[in-house]
Amino acid sequence: MNIFTLKDFSTEEINQILDEAEEFKNGKKVDFKGQKVVANLFFEPSTRTHYSFDKAAYNLGCRTQNFEAANSSVQKGETLYDTVKFFESIGCDAVVIRHPKENYYEDLIERIKIPVVSGGDGTGNHPSQSLLDLMTIREEFGHFEGLKIVIVGDIVHSRVAHSNYEIMQRLGMEVYTSGPREFEEAGYNYVDFDKILPEVDIVMLLRVQHERHHDLMRLTTDEYHQMFGLNQKRVDKMKEGAIIMHPAPFNRNVEIADEIVECAQSRIFRQMENGVFVRMALLNRVLTND
Ligand code: CP
Repeated sequence: MNIFTLKDFSTEEINQILDEAEEFKNGKKVDFKGQKVVANLFFEPSTRTHYSFDKAAYNLGCRTQNFEAANSSVQKGETLYDTVKFFESIGCDAVVIRHPKENYYEDLIERIKIPVVSGGDGTGNHPSQSLLDLMTIREEFGHFEGLKIVIVGDIVHSRVAHSNYEIMQRLGMEVYTSGPREFEEAGYNYVDFDKILPEVDIVMLLRVQHERHHDLMRLTTDEYHQMFGLNQKRVDKMKEGAIIMHPAPFNRNVEIADEIVECAQSRIFRQMENGVFVRMALLNRVLTND
Protein backbone atom coordinates (compact mmCIF):
# COMPACT_ATOMS: atom_id res chain seq x y z
CA MET A 1 0.00 0.00 0.00
CA ASN A 2 1.32 3.45 -0.96
CA ILE A 3 0.28 6.96 0.06
CA PHE A 4 0.96 9.45 -2.73
CA THR A 5 -2.11 11.68 -2.87
CA LEU A 6 -5.38 11.87 -0.94
CA LYS A 7 -7.24 11.53 -4.26
CA ASP A 8 -6.53 7.79 -3.91
CA PHE A 9 -8.55 7.65 -0.65
CA SER A 10 -12.31 7.70 -0.16
CA THR A 11 -13.74 10.16 2.35
CA GLU A 12 -14.52 7.16 4.55
CA GLU A 13 -10.83 6.17 4.52
CA ILE A 14 -9.78 9.77 5.25
CA ASN A 15 -12.08 9.79 8.28
CA GLN A 16 -10.69 6.42 9.41
CA ILE A 17 -7.13 7.82 9.31
CA LEU A 18 -8.23 10.92 11.26
CA ASP A 19 -10.07 8.74 13.80
CA GLU A 20 -6.97 6.66 14.39
CA ALA A 21 -4.78 9.76 14.66
CA GLU A 22 -7.18 11.04 17.33
CA GLU A 23 -6.99 7.69 19.12
CA PHE A 24 -3.20 7.93 19.13
CA LYS A 25 -3.48 11.44 20.55
CA ASN A 26 -5.74 10.04 23.28
CA GLY A 27 -3.22 7.38 24.23
CA LYS A 28 -3.78 4.37 21.92
CA LYS A 29 -0.64 2.23 21.83
CA VAL A 30 0.79 0.19 18.97
CA ASP A 31 4.22 -1.37 19.46
CA PHE A 32 6.10 -3.04 16.62
CA LYS A 33 8.82 -3.90 19.18
CA GLY A 34 11.66 -2.85 16.90
CA GLN A 35 10.64 -5.39 14.26
CA LYS A 36 9.81 -2.77 11.58
CA VAL A 37 12.23 -0.35 9.97
CA VAL A 38 11.12 2.88 8.29
CA ALA A 39 13.58 4.73 6.04
CA ASN A 40 13.13 8.49 5.70
CA LEU A 41 14.45 9.57 2.30
CA PHE A 42 14.36 13.34 2.01
CA PHE A 43 15.72 14.75 -1.26
CA GLU A 44 14.52 18.24 -0.32
CA PRO A 45 14.94 20.15 2.95
CA SER A 46 12.37 19.44 5.67
CA THR A 47 12.10 19.89 9.40
CA ARG A 48 8.47 19.11 10.32
CA THR A 49 7.68 16.30 7.89
CA HIS A 50 10.99 14.49 8.27
CA TYR A 51 11.26 14.62 12.03
CA SER A 52 7.60 14.07 12.79
CA PHE A 53 7.61 10.93 10.61
CA ASP A 54 10.72 9.92 12.55
CA LYS A 55 8.97 10.60 15.89
CA ALA A 56 5.83 8.81 14.69
CA ALA A 57 7.89 5.72 13.81
CA TYR A 58 9.63 5.87 17.20
CA ASN A 59 6.25 6.12 19.00
CA LEU A 60 5.14 2.96 17.15
CA GLY A 61 8.22 1.06 18.29
CA CYS A 62 9.81 1.10 14.81
CA ARG A 63 13.44 1.71 14.02
CA THR A 64 14.33 4.38 11.46
CA GLN A 65 17.04 5.09 8.95
CA ASN A 66 17.52 8.73 8.06
CA PHE A 67 19.02 9.12 4.61
CA GLU A 68 21.02 12.22 3.73
CA ALA A 69 20.89 12.79 -0.03
CA ALA A 70 23.81 15.23 0.12
CA ASN A 71 26.12 12.53 1.55
CA SER A 72 24.82 9.62 -0.48
CA SER A 73 25.45 7.97 -3.83
CA VAL A 74 22.82 10.30 -5.32
CA GLN A 75 25.85 12.58 -5.66
CA LYS A 76 27.39 9.92 -7.96
CA GLY A 77 24.28 9.89 -10.13
CA GLU A 78 22.29 7.06 -8.51
CA THR A 79 18.64 7.26 -9.51
CA LEU A 80 15.67 7.53 -7.18
CA TYR A 81 14.52 4.04 -8.17
CA ASP A 82 17.94 2.51 -7.42
CA THR A 83 18.12 4.33 -4.09
CA VAL A 84 14.68 3.10 -2.98
CA LYS A 85 15.44 -0.42 -4.30
CA PHE A 86 18.51 -0.43 -2.03
CA PHE A 87 16.43 0.31 1.07
CA GLU A 88 13.97 -2.40 0.03
CA SER A 89 16.88 -4.87 -0.50
CA ILE A 90 18.36 -4.36 2.97
CA GLY A 91 15.03 -5.14 4.60
CA CYS A 92 13.32 -1.82 5.29
CA ASP A 93 9.58 -2.24 5.72
CA ALA A 94 8.50 1.19 4.42
CA VAL A 95 10.02 4.36 3.00
CA VAL A 96 8.91 7.96 3.42
CA ILE A 97 10.02 10.10 0.48
CA ARG A 98 10.11 13.83 -0.17
CA HIS A 99 11.35 14.70 -3.62
CA PRO A 100 11.47 17.92 -5.67
CA LYS A 101 10.00 16.23 -8.78
CA GLU A 102 6.22 16.33 -9.11
CA ASN A 103 4.83 12.77 -9.37
CA TYR A 104 8.31 11.33 -8.62
CA TYR A 105 6.53 8.18 -7.47
CA GLU A 106 5.48 7.20 -11.00
CA ASP A 107 8.96 5.64 -11.41
CA LEU A 108 8.36 3.45 -8.34
CA ILE A 109 4.81 2.17 -8.80
CA GLU A 110 4.70 -1.63 -9.25
CA ARG A 111 8.52 -1.79 -9.16
CA ILE A 112 8.97 -1.26 -5.41
CA LYS A 113 7.27 -3.84 -3.22
CA ILE A 114 7.48 -2.08 0.18
CA PRO A 115 5.05 0.76 0.98
CA VAL A 116 6.02 4.27 -0.10
CA VAL A 117 4.57 7.21 1.84
CA SER A 118 5.01 10.58 0.21
CA GLY A 119 6.34 13.44 2.31
CA GLY A 120 5.65 15.81 -0.61
CA ASP A 121 6.29 15.74 -4.37
CA GLY A 122 7.54 19.01 -5.87
CA THR A 123 4.61 21.39 -6.24
CA GLY A 124 2.20 18.44 -6.49
CA ASN A 125 0.80 17.07 -3.23
CA HIS A 126 1.53 16.85 0.48
CA PRO A 127 -0.90 14.27 1.83
CA SER A 128 0.34 14.03 5.44
CA GLN A 129 0.27 17.84 5.79
CA SER A 130 -3.27 17.91 4.49
CA LEU A 131 -4.34 15.23 6.97
CA LEU A 132 -2.82 17.07 9.92
CA ASP A 133 -4.59 20.22 8.75
CA LEU A 134 -7.87 18.27 8.62
CA MET A 135 -7.25 16.80 12.07
CA THR A 136 -6.68 20.27 13.50
CA ILE A 137 -9.84 21.62 11.83
CA ARG A 138 -11.97 18.69 12.99
CA GLU A 139 -10.61 19.04 16.51
CA GLU A 140 -11.59 22.71 16.49
CA PHE A 141 -15.01 22.61 14.85
CA GLY A 142 -16.06 18.95 15.13
CA HIS A 143 -17.02 18.77 11.44
CA PHE A 144 -16.01 19.92 7.94
CA GLU A 145 -19.32 20.45 6.12
CA GLY A 146 -20.06 24.13 5.51
CA LEU A 147 -16.82 25.53 6.96
CA LYS A 148 -15.27 28.37 4.97
CA ILE A 149 -11.51 28.57 4.48
CA VAL A 150 -9.34 31.02 2.59
CA ILE A 151 -5.88 29.80 1.60
CA VAL A 152 -3.63 32.80 1.01
CA GLY A 153 -0.33 33.08 -0.81
CA ASP A 154 1.75 31.23 -3.32
CA ILE A 155 -1.01 28.85 -4.42
CA VAL A 156 0.50 27.70 -7.71
CA HIS A 157 3.73 26.45 -6.12
CA SER A 158 2.10 25.00 -3.02
CA ARG A 159 1.65 21.24 -2.69
CA VAL A 160 -0.23 22.00 0.54
CA ALA A 161 -2.76 24.16 -1.33
CA HIS A 162 -3.15 21.54 -4.06
CA SER A 163 -3.83 18.72 -1.59
CA ASN A 164 -6.12 20.82 0.60
CA TYR A 165 -8.13 22.37 -2.22
CA GLU A 166 -9.23 18.95 -3.46
CA ILE A 167 -9.90 17.17 -0.17
CA MET A 168 -11.50 20.11 1.64
CA GLN A 169 -14.00 20.60 -1.17
CA ARG A 170 -14.70 16.87 -1.15
CA LEU A 171 -15.42 17.06 2.58
CA GLY A 172 -17.99 19.83 2.01
CA MET A 173 -15.92 22.89 2.89
CA GLU A 174 -16.10 26.16 0.94
CA VAL A 175 -12.52 26.73 -0.21
CA TYR A 176 -11.33 30.15 -1.39
CA THR A 177 -7.85 31.22 -2.44
CA SER A 178 -6.15 34.61 -2.51
CA GLY A 179 -2.71 36.14 -2.94
CA PRO A 180 -0.68 37.79 -5.71
CA ARG A 181 -2.32 37.19 -9.10
CA GLU A 182 0.98 35.77 -10.45
CA PHE A 183 0.55 32.90 -7.96
CA GLU A 184 -3.08 32.20 -8.80
CA GLU A 185 -3.96 28.65 -9.85
CA ALA A 186 -6.22 28.47 -12.92
CA GLY A 187 -9.68 27.17 -12.07
CA TYR A 188 -9.41 27.88 -8.34
CA ASN A 189 -11.89 30.06 -6.46
CA TYR A 190 -9.85 33.31 -6.25
CA VAL A 191 -11.21 36.10 -4.01
CA ASP A 192 -10.18 39.44 -2.49
CA PHE A 193 -8.48 38.61 0.84
CA ASP A 194 -9.78 41.59 2.80
CA LYS A 195 -13.33 41.08 1.56
CA ILE A 196 -13.53 37.37 2.47
CA LEU A 197 -11.58 37.67 5.75
CA PRO A 198 -14.56 38.50 8.05
CA GLU A 199 -16.57 35.57 6.62
CA VAL A 200 -14.19 32.65 6.95
CA ASP A 201 -13.74 30.12 9.75
CA ILE A 202 -10.14 29.42 8.82
CA VAL A 203 -7.38 31.62 7.43
CA MET A 204 -4.62 29.41 6.07
CA LEU A 205 -1.45 31.27 5.17
CA LEU A 206 1.24 29.87 2.90
CA ARG A 207 4.92 30.55 2.83
CA VAL A 208 6.28 32.71 0.04
CA GLN A 209 8.50 30.07 -1.56
CA HIS A 210 11.46 32.13 -2.70
CA GLU A 211 13.35 28.95 -3.67
CA ARG A 212 10.63 27.84 -6.14
CA HIS A 213 9.34 30.92 -7.89
CA HIS A 214 12.64 32.30 -9.06
CA ASP A 215 11.71 35.99 -8.91
CA LEU A 216 8.23 35.46 -10.34
CA MET A 217 6.76 37.56 -7.53
CA ARG A 218 6.32 41.15 -8.55
CA LEU A 219 5.85 42.45 -4.99
CA THR A 220 8.57 43.22 -2.48
CA THR A 221 8.22 41.35 0.81
CA ASP A 222 7.05 44.62 2.47
CA GLU A 223 4.39 45.07 -0.22
CA TYR A 224 3.34 41.46 0.20
CA HIS A 225 2.96 41.95 3.95
CA GLN A 226 0.91 45.09 3.33
CA MET A 227 -1.46 43.39 0.86
CA PHE A 228 -1.69 39.80 2.12
CA GLY A 229 0.15 39.55 5.44
CA LEU A 230 -1.91 38.63 8.49
CA ASN A 231 -1.34 41.42 11.00
CA GLN A 232 -3.24 42.46 14.14
CA LYS A 233 -5.51 44.80 12.14
CA ARG A 234 -6.63 41.91 9.95
CA VAL A 235 -6.92 39.48 12.88
CA ASP A 236 -9.33 42.00 14.51
CA LYS A 237 -11.58 41.63 11.44
CA MET A 238 -11.77 37.81 11.71
CA LYS A 239 -15.06 36.43 12.93
CA GLU A 240 -15.40 35.09 16.45
CA GLY A 241 -14.11 31.52 16.72
CA ALA A 242 -12.12 31.72 13.47
CA ILE A 243 -8.62 30.24 13.52
CA ILE A 244 -5.27 30.82 11.82
CA MET A 245 -3.26 28.02 10.23
CA HIS A 246 0.09 27.82 8.42
CA PRO A 247 1.94 24.64 7.37
CA ALA A 248 5.26 26.34 8.29
CA PRO A 249 8.05 27.17 8.06
CA PHE A 250 6.82 30.77 8.02
CA ASN A 251 8.43 34.00 6.95
CA ARG A 252 7.77 36.24 9.94
CA ASN A 253 6.56 39.70 8.91
CA VAL A 254 5.92 38.58 5.32
CA GLU A 255 2.83 36.32 5.25
CA ILE A 256 2.33 36.56 9.03
CA ALA A 257 3.26 39.28 11.50
CA ASP A 258 5.64 38.19 14.22
CA GLU A 259 3.10 38.80 17.02
CA ILE A 260 0.38 36.75 15.26
CA VAL A 261 2.37 33.49 15.06
CA GLU A 262 1.44 32.51 18.64
CA CYS A 263 -1.69 34.63 19.16
CA ALA A 264 -4.87 33.15 20.68
CA GLN A 265 -6.40 32.34 17.28
CA SER A 266 -3.27 30.62 15.94
CA ARG A 267 -3.28 26.84 15.66
CA ILE A 268 0.12 26.65 13.96
CA PHE A 269 1.87 24.71 16.73
CA ARG A 270 -1.21 22.50 17.24
CA GLN A 271 -0.85 21.54 13.55
CA MET A 272 2.75 20.47 14.23
CA GLU A 273 1.68 18.49 17.31
CA ASN A 274 -1.06 16.73 15.34
CA GLY A 275 1.42 15.91 12.57
CA VAL A 276 2.96 13.17 14.71
CA PHE A 277 -0.41 11.45 15.38
CA VAL A 278 -1.48 11.61 11.73
CA ARG A 279 1.85 10.13 10.66
CA MET A 280 1.53 7.39 13.27
CA ALA A 281 -1.85 6.51 11.71
CA LEU A 282 -0.33 6.51 8.20
CA LEU A 283 2.65 4.35 9.16
CA ASN A 284 0.47 1.95 11.13
CA ARG A 285 -1.83 1.66 8.11
CA VAL A 286 0.91 0.86 5.60
CA LEU A 287 2.85 -1.44 7.95
CA THR A 288 -0.19 -3.57 8.77
CA ASN A 289 -1.75 -3.63 5.29
CA ASP A 290 -0.44 -6.45 3.08
N1 CP B 1 5.06 21.85 6.56
C1 CP B 1 6.16 21.22 6.09
O1 CP B 1 6.09 20.40 5.16
O2 CP B 1 7.31 21.59 6.71
P1 CP B 1 8.75 20.99 6.37
O3 CP B 1 9.11 21.47 5.00
O4 CP B 1 9.65 21.56 7.45
O5 CP B 1 8.66 19.51 6.39
